[in-house]
This record gives sequence, C-alpha cells and structure tokens, in this order.
Amino acid sequence: MTMRPGRSAPNAVAFLTSLVLAGGLAAQAAEPTFPHLVRKDGRHALIVDGAPFLILGGQSHNSSAWPKALPRVWSAIETLRANTLEVPISWEQFEPEQGKFDTSIVDELLAGARARQVRLVLLWFGTWKNGSSHYLPMWMKRQPELCPRIIGKDGRRVDSPSPHTPALLEADTRAFRALMRHLKQADPQHTVILVQVENEPGAWNAIRDYSPAAQRLFTAPVPGELLKALGKDARAGGDWTSVFGKDADEFFHAWSVARFIGQVAAAGKAEYPLPLYVNAALRDPLSQPPAGTYESGGPTDNVLDIWKAAAPAVDLLAPDIYMDDSARYLKVLDLYSRPDNALFVPETGRAPIVSRYLFAALARGAIGWSPFGIDSMVQGAHATGAAPASDLTEEPFAANYRVIGPMMREIAQLGFEGRLRAAVEEKDDHQQVIALGRWQAVVTFGPPTFGYGRSPQGNPEPVGRLLIGQLGENEFLVTGYLCRVDFKVADAASGAQREFLRVEEGRYEGGVFRPERIWNGDETDWALNFGGTAQVLRVQLGSF
Ligand code: DGJ
Repeated sequence: MTMRPGRSAPNAVAFLTSLVLAGGLAAQAAEPTFPHLVRKDGRHALIVDGAPFLILGGQSHNSSAWPKALPRVWSAIETLRANTLEVPISWEQFEPEQGKFDTSIVDELLAGARARQVRLVLLWFGTWKNGSSHYLPMWMKRQPELCPRIIGKDGRRVDSPSPHTPALLEADTRAFRALMRHLKQADPQHTVILVQVENEPGAWNAIRDYSPAAQRLFTAPVPGELLKALGKDARAGGDWTSVFGKDADEFFHAWSVARFIGQVAAAGKAEYPLPLYVNAALRDPLSQPPAGTYESGGPTDNVLDIWKAAAPAVDLLAPDIYMDDSARYLKVLDLYSRPDNALFVPETGRAPIVSRYLFAALARGAIGWSPFGIDSMVQGAHATGAAPASDLTEEPFAANYRVIGPMMREIAQLGFEGRLRAAVEEKDDHQQVIALGRWQAVVTFGPPTFGYGRSPQGNPEPVGRLLIGQLGENEFLVTGYLCRVDFKVADAASGAQREFLRVEEGRYEGGVFRPERIWNGDETDWALNFGGTAQVLRVQLGSF
C-alpha cells in the first residue's frame, strides 16, 4: 500500500482485517478500537483506535505514581509533547492489605491522562522490580515463607525472588488479575494501551536459584515444549546440563522466570486482553559477555526464544536501552526487532545525544520509544528533589515529539510498511548515505550551512538525525535535526542528475499533507538544511 500525498491516510481499519492478529487476540478483531498488535510481512503495528499508533512516550520515575508527585509528571508530559505516559502501578500500593485492592491511583491516572488526551502504559511492579522483590506488599514481606529469595551457588541468600514459589505466583497472579479486571470496567475508552508485566525480571548476583526445589527441576529432564520450540530433539530426555552445557544455569533461570511471568500475564489477559510486554536489563550486545556479568533470567538477547516458548501470553520483549554509543544502541534495536517480536523501547536514557535514536527505532518499525525519568528531565532535579542534573535537558526530546507528534499516524503506517529510513550522527563520521531504490540520500551533520565546498563539521555533540519516509519511487517525506540532506541518482553511470521538482514544507492534518510553502533558491541550492525547529518536507524528485 502506498501513501499518496494529498490523500487521506490509508483506511487502516479495512485493511487490518486481512492481517495476522498477534498474541491470540482474535476476539478483538470484532472490536477494532481495542488496542492490539498486528503483524504483516514480519513487521508489526500497535493498533489504537483502529489504526497504527506510535508511543511517543515518557516514563516517570519509580516513586512518582502518587498524588503528591503526579503534577510534576504531567507537566513533563506536556513540556515534552509526549502522547503516552508510562507509569508504575506497584503491588504494595495496589494491595496494601491482603485481598483489598486500592484502585485510587489507577483512577487518578486514567482521569489525568484523559484530561490531557494522552494514553497510558501501566507498569506492573509485582514480584520483580530490577531483579529484586522490593515492591511486594508489606503483608507479603512479613511472611518470608511466601516469598523466599533465591539461593546462590555458595548457599547464601540472594536478594531476588525465587520463581519456584507457588504461593508467590498465586498472590501475584491474583493481584495482577484484579488490576486488569479493574481496567476492564474503568477504561472503556482504552486510555491504557499496553501493560508491562513485572519490571526487569531476573537476578543480579546469581545466575540461577540453587535451592533444593530448583535443584530438583534443574536435574530433571528439560521440558519437551522447550526442546521443541528450540528445534532440539524432544525425545532426548536429558537434564539442563546435558542439553545446554555451559548455558544451562542461565537458560534454566530464564525458563523459570519466564514461566512464572507467563502465567501472571495469561491470567491478566484472561480478564482483559490488552497487549502485554516484559522489559529487559540488557547484556552487552556486541561482546556477548559470560552469564553472571549481567542480570540473569530476564529477556536478554540470547534467551528471547526461551522467553517466547515459556510465556506465549507476553506479546513482546522490550529492551531498556541505557547505552549511549551508537554501535551498541543500534545493535540492540536490531536484536529486538524480529518477525516474532515488535520493537518497543520502554526505557532509554535522557542525555541529549540519546534523542537521536528515536529516528533509528522508527526506521526499524518500532511501535514506541520512551526516555526514563521525565519528571526530573524537565525539572533539572531528581524525583526525590535531590541534586540537579544539569546535563539533562528535554529540548532535543521535545523536538522529536514536536515534529513526529502531528504526523504520528502517518509515520506509524510508513514504519509498518517498512518505508522509513534514518540516519543518526556518529561522533567522528559526519556523512551517511541512505539507499532509496533509484535514489541515494546523502546526509551530513551539523548546524545549517549554506554553500558547498565546506566539509561537514558535525555537531559539538552527535545529536543530528534524519528520517525519510518513501511515499513513492521519486517522492519522500523528510524531517531532520541539525543536519542536511541531498539526493543523488543511484546509478551514477547513467549520467542523470537530480532535480528538485518540488520541495514543500507542510504538515499533516487529518491524514492529509497540507503544504505551507515551497522551498527553492537558497533553501534547495545548498541541500535541504534542518535546524532545531520542527520542519517536515515533501520532496518530489526528477532528473535531467
Ligand atoms: C531501569 C528500571 O527498569 C527502572 O525502573 C529504573 O530503575 C531505571 N533502571 C533507573 O535508571
């Protein structure tokens, strides 16, 4: 499907009926406004209000889902122009007394989001939060037999919950079900579009649980369904060590944690089938470090297949990307955008240079992206009111959302169709070339300069980025930040040269591109220059 200029965006609802519904959500096909994921040709879209949606998100700090802290969160959402708030619902707050669920903060969030016309992604801080279990309600913490920690190889307790604890699974499941049940009745307008189950699960400081219960499972045959999912001989009957060798400890913990969370997710989904995801504390994506040097058992890149097999009710596995360097950041985006996994970055750093990676994520078909800790980003202070973080600024992030926000639906559709490309600035390489069929886009970084003959200088910090949507063979939607782009005929031997037939600056309104002025003269003779303001161009090319 081609999005033609000057016409309305594709009729998403009609064409979605032909798509494969992800995550077994067939029931929602009858209600196209229900948030759900779809997959086509190995790419994904999050459908909200019947059409592809992009989460231009902001995640609050951990202790901000309280009436006292929320005004600062909402003000950050507005300053950033984010369209979605990601915010925790913690077990201790939701079930302060056993069996008594306090939905007041959920209701306050729903009302606050609706008043500001933003959506919510709720983060269930249940059994796991960053590998520990610090968000268990006090009544659980007071009964340690219900929530034992794992035992490390040396026999010492490790501050991480054991996934081999039926009482904990049952209690978490009951609470998560109650949350989803409440959403079902309190949110008919689908303000909540996605729910995260647990937070960065797994264990730090141990690769797995060595408790007697865990040991019994570890020395038993590997479950046949896992062997089958991994394409291994299901009749093997071997235990974890004989099947997985040096990876056995880590794979066992991944399976155990994912199994637990898969059951929590399935129970919640049975109440109310919103799309669900689990986020990962990453391992280094390039060096493939040994287990034990990163959080073990969560959905790191090496165990995604195990998670998929163990937790089918979890729709996607999402990387929390706190790496600044582009080699690692881009590699992570590649590892988590798979035909069986929609790319979503629920947390990322908030240093200005990180802002450029939104475009890289979109070019890989991401359904959303969100910096973490927005309430201090804008205020220049930590959420607790501690020391100012003066190197953080919201402006390059707000610049992203100012430009993408008004055409979010069109960008989501282009990403779903695989028609987006991006260039992000590298520290010591100020020029990049993007292949676009008949054309090549030559991108250089740095503030606008008018006049050739100067080599590209780059920006003082590598914040430059460019996003191109291919609307037709010779027609492009282009936006950028502190960079410029020109086009060349790809077949240099043909002798054909690029001509700008028309370059229009404009904006999308109701699915239609409305030109506001034509760029020509200095504005096109020295390539198409982007500063820090939100400018969107529709470029039609010809040759002579
Ligand atoms: C990753 C976690 O998922 C967040 O909840 C938060 O703790 C951040 N780390 C802190 O940087």
